[in-house]
Amino acid sequence: MMRITKPSIFYAVLLLVFIVTGCKQSKKESQSEMETVKTESKQNPIEETIFGEMPDGTKVKKFTLKNEAGMEVDVITYGGIITRWTAPDKNGLYEDVVLGFESLEPYLDGNPYFGALIGRYGNRIANGEFALEGKTYTLAKNDGDNHLHGGEKGFDKVLWNGVAKNTEEGAVVELTYTSQDGEEGYPGKLDVKVTYTLTDNNELDIQYEAVTDKPTVVNLTQHSYFNLSGQLSKQILDHEIYLNADTYLPVDGGLIPTGELRPVASTPFDFNEAKLIGKEIAADNEQLKLGKGYDHCWVLNKGEEGFGMVASAYHGETGRFMEVYTNEPGMQFYSGNFLDGTLPAKGGGTYGQRSGFCLETQHFPNSPNQADFPSVRLNPGETYTSRTMFKLSTK
Ligand code: GLA
Repeated sequence: MMRITKPSIFYAVLLLVFIVTGCKQSKKESQSEMETVKTESKQNPIEETIFGEMPDGTKVKKFTLKNEAGMEVDVITYGGIITRWTAPDKNGLYEDVVLGFESLEPYLDGNPYFGALIGRYGNRIANGEFALEGKTYTLAKNDGDNHLHGGEKGFDKVLWNGVAKNTEEGAVVELTYTSQDGEEGYPGKLDVKVTYTLTDNNELDIQYEAVTDKPTVVNLTQHSYFNLSGQLSKQILDHEIYLNADTYLPVDGGLIPTGELRPVASTPFDFNEAKLIGKEIAADNEQLKLGKGYDHCWVLNKGEEGFGMVASAYHGETGRFMEVYTNEPGMQFYSGNFLDGTLPAKGGGTYGQRSGFCLETQHFPNSPNQADFPSVRLNPGETYTSRTMFKLSTK
């Protein structure tokens, strides 16, 4: 009996092993099939088209990044500009939420940095001057007596090299630019890379990198003007802003920080609890008068270290909600005070005063001349890195 039973048990076990292994294998196969499908579905084609031509005939490319949710972001190689960014409202209606133009010409004709990459130095440097290792560097005074956003031809006006690729994280466009030693008065040859990644969670992750061959200063940012109503010529006063910051940098008449870190408590500058931009913008406040509204740098509570959520904007009527994450210590909140209705808006009308707001993550303005501010110095052998993520949702 034993002799007969043993082999039958043996065969039964063999059969069981066979079945289990077979099942496992087919499970494995279907898993990898699923993975393949998932990867494939992430391969949203990145459209590459020609947006326009520079006066010398060089073509400006446009990359359209798409995600699973249906969001689309257009990025052009001129200035690394985000020209269009669609986001759903609470009913699922996708609308463009950034100021800009439909064609290249109005960008070339001059505009207040709509959607552009800003460098080498985002924001102002007093008197267009700074010293490094005992040598004084002179920059363009393109904002009254001061230097603003990299000078006459900052990174917002140069042609970047653009490469699109699909990754596990999402649709990516990688922009690179080499700024020559002495360009716009800055020392050192600076090699810059900016990566825009659109994820399936409606996040636009922007990562900046730069290396230099001489000591220099760097402060890169992104200058998108948002209007979450989707009606780009309408005022943004009905947006609620939250800024996780207990102090901000008061400015002088040229919008240069005085060096003081002033508490926001009990002032129109307190956004620690979300409040409407319009709520106190017209208050009788010396700093609001100097900025013609909000145009100041907030000192983020997170400090110089770490990457976290530091600000948000909410448009109640459409339910659009945007969170801003960064590793930068400062945030310039600009309420579009200098927009004056002379530029045509996408979708009709014009860009009037306060038709867009900017949340520009950065180091503090005029840091090269303010020893107490976090350093913006970059040395050869070091890599400058900065990261900012805008996440759109509804509530
Ligand atoms: C920045 C500045 C503003 C203004 C805009 C562009 O955000 O802080 O003062 O110059 O850029 O118009």
